[in-house]
Amino acid sequence: MKYDPLFALLRRRGVLWPAAEIYGGASGLFDYGPLGTALKRRLEDAWRAWFLGLSEDYHWIEPAEILPEAVVRASGHLENFTDPEVTCGKCGHSFRADVVLEKVRPNGIDGLSPTAIAALLREAGSLCPHCGNDALSVPRPFNLMFGLDFGPTGRERAYLRPETAQSSFLAFARMWEVGRRALPLGVAVIGRAYRNEIAPRQALFRMRAFTQAELQIFFDPGAFEMPLAEVADLPLPILSAADRERGAEGPTSRTPRELVDGGSLPGFYAYHLAISYRFYRDVLGYPAASLRLLEKSDAERAFYNKIQFDIEAHLESLGGFKELGAVHYRGDYDLGRHAEGSQKDLSVAKQAGGRVLPHVLELTFGVDRNLWALADRHLVVEPAAGDETRTVWKLPPYLAPVAVGVFPLLKKEHAGKAREIARTLGQVGIAAEYDAVGSIGKRYARMDEAGVPYCITVDGETLDPTHPNHGTVTVRDRDSKSQRRVAVPELAGQLAPGLLFPRVGPG
Ligand code: GAP
Repeated sequence: MKYDPLFALLRRRGVLWPAAEIYGGASGLFDYGPLGTALKRRLEDAWRAWFLGLSEDYHWIEPAEILPEAVVRASGHLENFTDPEVTCGKCGHSFRADVVLEKVRPNGIDGLSPTAIAALLREAGSLCPHCGNDALSVPRPFNLMFGLDFGPTGRERAYLRPETAQSSFLAFARMWEVGRRALPLGVAVIGRAYRNEIAPRQALFRMRAFTQAELQIFFDPGAFEMPLAEVADLPLPILSAADRERGAEGPTSRTPRELVDGGSLPGFYAYHLAISYRFYRDVLGYPAASLRLLEKSDAERAFYNKIQFDIEAHLESLGGFKELGAVHYRGDYDLGRHAEGSQKDLSVAKQAGGRVLPHVLELTFGVDRNLWALADRHLVVEPAAGDETRTVWKLPPYLAPVAVGVFPLLKKEHAGKAREIARTLGQVGIAAEYDAVGSIGKRYARMDEAGVPYCITVDGETLDPTHPNHGTVTVRDRDSKSQRRVAVPELAGQLAPGLLFPRVGPG
């Protein structure tokens, strides 16, 4: 679906809308409605089930969102977390330089110096995108963090965290103490990150407050063995930095075995890249052909990374491949900087003797971006009877915000039983929504659009003790539209297996 109809549909169905909408909206901020909130929670739960399922030593924590200034000074964000900004001398509007240069440099300007960007702007004859005047300033680094006056005196500075990762680095020493004191140790955070983006746009893609799901794996670089054999022959759609340099636009299929044996990637990295790819293919339901793993070059990588592959999916609404997550090898950059900043020894005892300052492998995902992508990928308009169409959100059943719609065929006669079924399913953790409004066809259509995979209808046969179908209901499948009768006591048992999150296993 294209951007405008998709956004309109999500807004109409109460999935999401601009924050402070009645005041005209607040740039880069969005509210989730009931469907969006439930879907976001399912997505986060699926992410947790998949990635925390990798090891008993990977844990989920909920740390503070505000960082004292000393933390972002040590992490390098005060100095380096900037985007090049240009301002129009005529109208005063500000823009990200890469947005102004989008047509001439569609692949972005990561890694270019301010002088090189200024030269590009000059050569392209760039005009102000707002007023059209030739009055753009030279680019200046704009720090993306939101600073705060902390406490009543206004003398203490603090910052909203620009990435959840920082919270995990701060927690490492405590997690070591409370855990099994063994590496690898994983610390996951699902929570808000805040960035004062110069040009928020594309709805959930460039927001000023967004949710990240990040797993930081602290490990000993001399002893980080992974079961690579489980994924060794999985074809991965790799678009390497070298291939891009040579002008390649599309990915080449390479297996983790080839990447490791050829010396392109260390085993631990190739393993986690494959596991992250499988999350998109096997859990979020992306066709392999719609995904690619794009390697960032030395110049393009974030300042803390040694190896960086972005996980990208092709999204019709945004007209191309878009970054949804990434695998970052951060080396010992983070603990090294925080050890220096805090004057605390963050090295730990190795099992084999001696000490090591752990390295970090980061698996990072933007939850909001991924929610948008699930709508882009799985919300389809397909032909129905005659000239009609039906809009169906073909989410994998375990991601659906509501698992089951429960209808009385006739409101008066069948409501009691239908409500009882909805309540009973809810009690065993199957999200069920009772709906008695409008014709059955209208109710199916509403549920299809909301991604509900199963609809249960209570009818006369259910309640008629003389009928062979007594005690059964119809269960209609969203995608095939087929219907079957199921005995009420068997409903939960039949529906539950399809609602379980996939776990990592050989594949
Ligand atoms: N800890 C590493 C880190 O924060 P990043 O590439 O800046 O790396 C990770 O962000 C993920 O967070 C991205 O892949 C994207 O999904 C999401 N993300 C980043 N900036 C965002 C923004 N302004 N709005 C929405 N999602 C964003």
